[in-house]
Amino acid sequence: RPHLSANAFDGLTVEEVPLARIAEAVGTPTWVYSAGALRRRARALRAALDGAGLRASIHYAVKANGNLAVLRVLAAEGLGADVVSEGELRAARAAGVPGSAIVFSGVGKTERELRLALAEDIFQINAESAEELEAVSALAASLGRTARVALRVNPDVDARTHAKITTGRSENKFGVPIADAPALYARMAALPGIEPVGVAVHIGSQITAGVSAFRAAYARLGELVRELRAAGLPLQRVDCGGGLGIPYRDEPAPLPEALAGAIRHGLGDLGLPVMLEPGRWIAGPAGVLLASVVVQKQGAARRFVVLDAAMNDLLRPAMYEAWHGILPVSPRALVAPCSPADVVGPVCETGDTFARGRALPALDPGALVALLDAGAYGAVMSSTYNMRPLAAEVLVDGARFAVVRDRQDHAALLAGMRVPHWLEDAP
Ligand code: LLP
Repeated sequence: RPHLSANAFDGLTVEEVPLARIAEAVGTPTWVYSAGALRRRARALRAALDGAGLRASIHYAVKANGNLAVLRVLAAEGLGADVVSEGELRAARAAGVPGSAIVFSGVGKTERELRLALAEDIFQINAESAEELEAVSALAASLGRTARVALRVNPDVDARTHAKITTGRSENKFGVPIADAPALYARMAALPGIEPVGVAVHIGSQITAGVSAFRAAYARLGELVRELRAAGLPLQRVDCGGGLGIPYRDEPAPLPEALAGAIRHGLGDLGLPVMLEPGRWIAGPAGVLLASVVVQKQGAARRFVVLDAAMNDLLRPAMYEAWHGILPVSPRALVAPCSPADVVGPVCETGDTFARGRALPALDPGALVALLDAGAYGAVMSSTYNMRPLAAEVLVDGARFAVVRDRQDHAALLAGMRVPHWLEDAP
């Protein structure tokens, strides 16, 4: 995380901006993203794909972090977008991603979403079922349009990641069984309103157990492409999905070069361009969640550090038992002696725990901490549970920083709700 540094004067710093300065200006909890890290990671991924001799386009998975400023930085790096909803499609367009660089994935696209995708003439729609193929065909034909469609296949490989984020097993809801793909692809070629452009896979997320699962999936995909070609069916490209994991702790995680190698191994000799849909690898390490200590209390057996951030902000620890690094921000706390503490939020659930038995110094009320690697699946997964407003988001770029999403205010939290008239006069 070269964008994070600590010094005796400013404490923990993102690029050239001390986190304490951001807390002072914006308050906490606040998500802080490094534009430099986003750019560097986008370039490193591109370099790995180029280095493997692949003709590849990168479509950043907006679900990981859909902040317009983040999307803008990545669009300026030439990345396209992978979207899964009308909201993400609109966000990508608003950030300057052209329709011609947008892929629409997802197992349940509504007619309204498909209409928008067709109106924006997006690069590719990844169809996930026979039913969806028929629906896209009927809609596109009725609108006098042609949808470029790839067929998402489920290769039935085990990505060996958390059960909640594995997607490429036959028991998962995603894609069509690879055995059904040839017949479905032939059907696609015969349907009006559809241009079959290729096949797609995505086997899961936070894949860190080497690249063997990627290799297996791409090898199966390569066989499928050969089979389709032998049947005289047209293919223009192959979508390799996302899923490259990052080290949250000290676990070994594959490098983009290894992923590129797996793609080349399975698909390299087909002579087709490939696509990638990375989310976490680009955005995860580029962000932190900055929080303040509300109180430090000693329980019967444990020390608790209670933050002003909670599971409604960063859900990953509660949802996946995910581990996130936690660092104090002040120069003194960074070098103070540590002892174990549970780091928790104020939400009324035991699951609202960021870390157990973590080595941390004494932290007085008001002390700042940073939860690391929170740039992906952080802000986007937050809720207003316990009637807590959504946190602010800040982008750091060199020595500059800007609020890129206002902290939600309490009035906005109540704004959409109303009491029906027949209850208003009741005692
Ligand atoms: N493409 C498709 C079709 C996907 O479903 C996903 C993620 C991606 C690309 C991007 O995957 P990535 O490169 O970020 O691994 N909320 C979970 C992660 C869910 C991922 C869902 N799909 C978490 O916090 O770990």
